[in-house]
Amino acid sequence: MSKYLIEGGRRLEGEIAVQGSKNATLPIMAACVLNSAENILHNVPDILDVQIMAEILTSIGCTVRREGSDLYINSEGINSNVVCERLVSQMRSSIVLLGALASRLDNVQFSYPGGSDIGYRPIDIHLKGLCDLGAQITKERGYIFVTSDNLHGKNIVLDYPSVGATESLILASIFSNGYTNISNAAKEPEIIDLQNFLLGMGAKVGGAGTNNIYIDGVQKLHGCEYTIMPDRIALGTYLCAVHITGGKVMLKNLESEDNLTILDTIKAPHYKLLESGLKIRNLPGRAMVESTGIVQPISSIVTQPYPGFPTDLQNPFLSMLSVAKGSSFVKETIFDSRFKFISQIARMGANIRAEGSLAVVTGVGKLSGAKVYAEDLRGGAALVLAALAAEGKSEVVDTRHIDRGYEKMAELLADVGACIKRVDY
Ligand code: EPZ
Repeated sequence: MSKYLIEGGRRLEGEIAVQGSKNATLPIMAACVLNSAENILHNVPDILDVQIMAEILTSIGCTVRREGSDLYINSEGINSNVVCERLVSQMRSSIVLLGALASRLDNVQFSYPGGSDIGYRPIDIHLKGLCDLGAQITKERGYIFVTSDNLHGKNIVLDYPSVGATESLILASIFSNGYTNISNAAKEPEIIDLQNFLLGMGAKVGGAGTNNIYIDGVQKLHGCEYTIMPDRIALGTYLCAVHITGGKVMLKNLESEDNLTILDTIKAPHYKLLESGLKIRNLPGRAMVESTGIVQPISSIVTQPYPGFPTDLQNPFLSMLSVAKGSSFVKETIFDSRFKFISQIARMGANIRAEGSLAVVTGVGKLSGAKVYAEDLRGGAALVLAALAAEGKSEVVDTRHIDRGYEKMAELLADVGACIKRVDY
């Protein structure tokens, strides 16, 4: 186990280089099983979820090796069609691999992913789409058995714009006979990154970033070298960290290979941060961010599928708004258990009241240091933000939740003046 020891009250000042995107890396790693070849990924974040996905790929016969921020994945030697419970239970988003394996293999045995620390996470849309494509699916003994020896193109309509289901069904359609159209698809930018990678492998995919994605089945794919887009949720988290500490920071690595400015992929949080008084100067590939130290309340935040306000930034915003001068209202519409960290931040003096999907934040101006427990990825990061601003010492216990998605968070924050260190115990 490990914890962060934090002495709050320091302004963040200096430069932060934003990591590669966790939520683009994971589906792209899954896509590597399609081409039975060597793939080279650049700007891969060194985080626990990537390690878990690498372990899953290795368990079915791929070779995976890391050299700095480069990941080499060769899927030529796949020798198993079983993805075991021990690994899937560590990361439910590994389910995106099911679509890729259904494309590559005639039969797949995949452990049924449970819920997660942010709520009940069904996969009905994933499975319905696979059946639409011609897969036969049975479920027993906690496993999903998929027969996928004859997948065919199909017009699919998703009941909900699920990110993972959109990604998994794109991967399941790559070699199918004919043409597939996915309507009501998720529009997240990470899906555009996945499409760019697939095009680099020789796949025929289009429409990512819209709610209509089309795939024309091909016979074979070749190896691909690709640079992962920057992480827009890590960017948003660090913007909140600058504001809550009244800092001034240059954020770097904000441009993807195809010149997508990552700040433009969090327009809704960006707009809300300006409302809250944060100054953001957009520069080529960078952003100069400065806070007066006064966090203004935000009248309303409603989490929604892209391009709406991302649910993954809801907790960091709640932390930031807990020191505001006034009340803010936040409604969570995506997950049913994403207010858990409220009970922990209350130990620092925050006044956040959650009723169902609505949280009312009464800003208290100042927080006081306390020992708190991380229970999930974004809630854990939000507790770190609160501790950075709190008066006195804090402990954020069980940092492995944070390690899942934030690369070297303690070092990164210490480099811009935070008094934070990691203690293993
Ligand atoms: C992806 O999760 C992200 N994870 C999540 O980020 C993110 O919060 C989420 O999309 C929403 O943007 C990755 O990309 C690895 P969904 P995913 O399927 O794909 C319901 C983080 O912190 N649903 O879009 O699991 C589901 O219950 C993580 O980085 C079904 O009902 O999200 C939820 O209410 C957390 N049936 C809603 O859709 C299904 O078959 C959105 O889920 C699938 C989903």
